[in-house]
Amino acid sequence: MTEPMVRIWNLHKSYGRNAVLKGIDLEVSSGEVVVIIGPSGSGKSTLLSCINFLEPFEAGSVKVDGEYVGFGPERDGVRVRLPERQLDRLRTRIGIVFQQFNLFPHMTVLENLIEAPVHVKREPREQAVARARALLGRVGLAAKETAYPGQLSGGQQQRVAIARALCMDPKVMLFDEVTSALDPELVGEVLNVMRDLARDGMTMIAVTHEMAFARDVADRVVFMDGGVIVEQGTPEQIFGAPREARTRAFLRKFLEQGDGHGPAGAPEPSPTSDFVPFPRFLEGTAGA
Ligand SMILES: Nc1ncnc2c1ncn2[C@@H]1O[C@H](COP(=O)(O)OP(=O)(O)O)[C@@H](O)[C@H]1O
Ligand SMILES: [Mg+2]
Repeated sequence: MTEPMVRIWNLHKSYGRNAVLKGIDLEVSSGEVVVIIGPSGSGKSTLLSCINFLEPFEAGSVKVDGEYVGFGPERDGVRVRLPERQLDRLRTRIGIVFQQFNLFPHMTVLENLIEAPVHVKREPREQAVARARALLGRVGLAAKETAYPGQLSGGQQQRVAIARALCMDPKVMLFDEVTSALDPELVGEVLNVMRDLARDGMTMIAVTHEMAFARDVADRVVFMDGGVIVEQGTPEQIFGAPREARTRAFLRKFLEQGDGHGPAGAPEPSPTSDFVPFPRFLEGTAGA
């Protein structure tokens, strides 16, 4: 058996006395697309933060591409925090894109892309520029390399943020509700970039409320609630025949409220709002 690209076991994480992750086990294979859904506060962002060690955790282990992240293997119940240099190197292999675009506002698009390759990876500038241009082409923004982030739409900024993460040649990409801050008409262009990435074989873990995207692109859907993975399966299984009452309750509420871009029943101009959900699921819970 080959080692999974991401392997998480027994992960526990608290903020003060607030236990946020209560024993997460998750494996993601190379090239797999995992979508994480779940209510606000269930620990989705915290989980992503632990995967690239933006946040330390109290117990458990994370490995990416066969290497421990954060802490080395436990010896006699004692964990050793890895040296910062090793952590920095590991982090460069894990791309992360957030809801807020986080671009450097005083740098052009191209400068944003080459900053980390040149200054963190010490890559020759011409090489970084060549790859940055190729990636800008891939996200449809070749014409924008001299623009500043403030001159771009939210969807364009988010596509730049994705290209910037790809510039580091990551082993895995983490996406944390990257379309949630966008106007509905800009959501589709960002999801399309993610769709292309998935098709090209990138290993991806994406937290999102875009259920149509999850249904169409995910190999596996993971439902989190209260700091645990309640249930996971194929999109067909999770959306068509969820086993757990908590999953059904979440999905039903989601359907009633719409996808968060407006009140239920409001016109949805976004091409991603074509979520025709799970008839079997609705039949199964009618009147329940
Ligand atoms: N930096 C932080 N400091 C303290 N508490 C936090 C921090 N980040 C998240 N939390 C808490 O952790 C819990 C899970 O948050 P989060 O992982 O952001 O959930 P989700 O992404 O599923 O909405 C929440 O109770 C939240 O208040
Ligand atoms: Mg979150």
